[in-house]
Parts: sequence; structure tokens; C-alpha cells
Amino acid sequence: MHPVSLDSFTIKYKTLLEERLREAVGALETPENLAKAMLYSLEAGGKRIRPLLVFAVIDSFGKDPQNGVDAAAAIEMVHTYSLIHDDLPSMDDDDLRRGKPTNHKVFGEATAILAGDALLTLSFNMLADIPEESAPAHVKLALIKGLSAAAGAPGMVGGQVADMEGENKRLSLEQLEYIHINKTGRLLEYSIIAGAEIAGATAGQKQVLSKFAYHIGLAFQIRDDILDLEGSEEMIGKPVGSDTANEKSTYPALLGLAGAKEALDYHCGVRKNP
Ligand code: IPE
Ligand code: IPE
Ligand code: MG
Ligand code: MG
Ligand code: MG
Repeated sequence: MHPVSLDSFTIKYKTLLEERLREAVGALETPENLAKAMLYSLEAGGKRIRPLLVFAVIDSFGKDPQNGVDAAAAIEMVHTYSLIHDDLPSMDDDDLRRGKPTNHKVFGEATAILAGDALLTLSFNMLADIPEESAPAHVKLALIKGLSAAAGAPGMVGGQVADMEGENKRLSLEQLEYIHINKTGRLLEYSIIAGAEIAGATAGQKQVLSKFAYHIGLAFQIRDDILDLEGSEEMIGKPVGSDTANEKSTYPALLGLAGAKEALDYHCGVRKNP
């Protein structure tokens, strides 16, 4: 392995991912407006953190990150679908995402829901179609099963339901952690474990990576909650104050801004005690 800068790694693999996303949607036989709605949100930008985690984990095992491109694209599709649905009027009711009007603002609510459905289902097709040289059948099966659990009722969807049920309530820290781990942490964890599966990691290595993923997942959503208060629309590409308007249970709402920052430092490993 040759040492590379984070910037050049990011540019290289973001480009690879984005080409794969366009290619996969472009190959679909489907109504033009649906493909347009799917691509609109996929191409709106985004940090691509989850795909980059897949590539980085494979790279850390000394294997070729390109083997992860289909899994990375599948994960970005699931993530993008979750954002389209999260922004709907019946959920967080937000008008801006990734610096652009939200999907339902451009295509209407029904098409936005269906574009989300189409991205979710396409993701499983991507995993099933990974070439044998990149991942053998038993690895693909593990990837499919893992995505279903991480994204579904026992994971992200469950977390989103708990998040909505937690509106206007004062939750315990334990209940709030459940929400954050599931609505956000599980897909981040899956990205890390998918990279490990593709790289042929042992069960012990995956266990260590899961612990790392637990902290990343919580830190990521705590920072997202803080940015909802302290960020700017220009910086985060979505409205600020959305959580406050929806009376969401967030880390700053429960612990105060300073307490949320301490929790963030703990999960980032710069503070010893929670
Ligand atoms: C936003 O995710 C939703 C959360 C889970 C906090 P990201 O912050 O990764 O959003 P994009 O992909 O960069 O737009
Ligand atoms: C979203 O959490 C998590 C998922 C989309 C699964 P948020 O509602 O906090 O995400 P943003 O702030 O709208 O990106
Ligand atoms: Mg939400
Ligand atoms: Mg939201
Ligand atoms: Mg948020």
C-alpha cells in the first residue's frame, strides 16, 4: 500500500462512486421521470461518508478498494432514499437538502416516495450483481442480509419511528441513544462491516470495527444535532432549526449544547468519561 492523502483518496473514490451511481440508474428500464427523480437526489452532492468508509476499510486491509464500488453505491442509494423520505411533509417537512430543493418540492410527494422506494430496491439488486471476483457468493449473501437488518425495522427504519415517537417528549439518555444508534449509526456501522466483509476480515476484526462504528455512529448524529442549532444553511445544505421546529428529542435538547459537545468529544475519543 502506498500512503495517499485523504484528499486524493476522497476525490478518486467519490468519482468512482458517482460514475457507478449514474451508470446503475441509467441502465434501468423505467419511466423517465422516475429515473430523473432518483438521479436528482443522488447527484445533489452529499459528503459520501458511508461509501468512503467502505473504500477506506477495504484499503486498510491492503485490498483493492474498487472491489467495494457496488456495495458503496448500494449504501449511498439506501442513504439517499432515507433522506428523501425523511424530508417529506409527513416526516421532518424540510424544503432544502444538499443545498437544493428537496425531492418532493421538485417532483411532488408521490414521485418522491416512489423514487425512494426505487433506490431502496435497486440497492439490493446492486449487491446481488457484485461480480464474483469482487465478492464471492457467501460474502454477497452476508452483505444482502446485513443491509436488510441495518436499513430495516431492526435498524434505520426502527430508529426513524422512535425518532418520530420521541417528538415533544423528554426521553432518557438511553432512549435517545437507541434512536441515534438506529436511525444513523446502523448504516454507518454497516458501511464499515461491508468493507470488512469484502476485504475478508475475521470475526474478531469485525468485532473491533463494530465497536469503532458504535462511537462513529453516535458522534455523527450528535454532531448533526449540534449543527441543526449552530450551523448555517450554507454550510450544511439543509435548514437549520428543523429539530427545534419539530420538537425533536436531540442531544442538545436533553443535555444542553455544552453537554452534547462533551458527549461528542467522548465518542470521538478526545474525552475519557461520558
Ligand atoms: C444526514 O446524513 C442524515 C443523518 C444521518 C445525520 P449526512 O450528513 O451523511 O448527509 P449527506 O449525505 O452528506 O447529505
Ligand atoms: C435522519 O436524521 C436520519 C435518517 C435520514 C435515517 P435527521 O432527520 O436528523 O437528518 P437530517 O438532519 O434531516 O439530515
Ligand atoms: Mg429526521
Ligand atoms: Mg431530517
Ligand atoms: Mg438532523
